[in-house]
Amino acid sequence: MNVYEAVRSRRAVRGFTDRQVPAQALARVMSAAAWAPSASNLQPWHAYVLTGGPLAELKKRTGERVSTGDAWDEPEYEQYPPDLESPYRERRFAFGEQRYGALGIARGDLEARQRAASANWDCFGAPAALFCYIDRGMGPAQWSDVGMYLQTVMLLLREEGLHSCAQMAWAKYHRTVAEVLSPPKELMLFCGMSIGFEDVTVTDARIGRAPLDETVTFIDG
Ligand SMILES: Cc1cc2nc3c(=O)[nH]c(=O)nc-3n(C[C@H](O)[C@H](O)[C@H](O)COP(=O)(O)O)c2cc1C
Repeated sequence: MNVYEAVRSRRAVRGFTDRQVPAQALARVMSAAAWAPSASNLQPWHAYVLTGGPLAELKKRTGERVSTGDAWDEPEYEQYPPDLESPYRERRFAFGEQRYGALGIARGDLEARQRAASANWDCFGAPAALFCYIDRGMGPAQWSDVGMYLQTVMLLLREEGLHSCAQMAWAKYHRTVAEVLSPPKELMLFCGMSIGFEDVTVTDARIGRAPLDETVTFIDG
């Protein structure tokens, strides 16, 4: 698989089979992803990779909270600006339309949307997951480093025949994640990531992108 293929075939997969992810594949991916760039080589990421019993325990504990309607934990960072301006507001709306439209969920059916979203906390059935933390003292540039790291992981997973879905949804239950992972106090959960083999029978939308001239400006000499 060349890099273009890896980039184009990576997408947020929200249905996985229960086929186990080989430990060696995860080890290869995480070793290679360590070579992701970061400003002044800070490497500000802290990744926890879970499979088996620990992941089952986390899904169980979180699933209990979801099913009893327990309130989300207090946020540790703002996931989106409170007033999304154009064009981001429209893009977010379009994403919801594509994602839930593909599942046959009507726009106003908030309950059905929530039900679909709750699959996040089962990792969409994935047998492996990664939880990415960042030190609370880090600033926007280091958050960007963490993003590059996560994309590096996701592209390497494609080389292994694996798929993924990055999930900020896990930050909603960061206390439960911390109960299972026991991270040092100075770390804050940025997101989770489901990892596994795609269940091709699960319907999902291929989310589009803005026209290139909305996001890229070529200035020719
Ligand atoms: C940092 C980050 C957090 C995300 N959080 C979630 C999430 O909690 N749940 C989810 O289903 N998808 C989540 N996504 C997936 C995005 O919705 C998806 O990447 C976007 O809609 C583009 O679609 P694509 O990745 O399939 O191309 C997240 C993606 C990123 C990069």
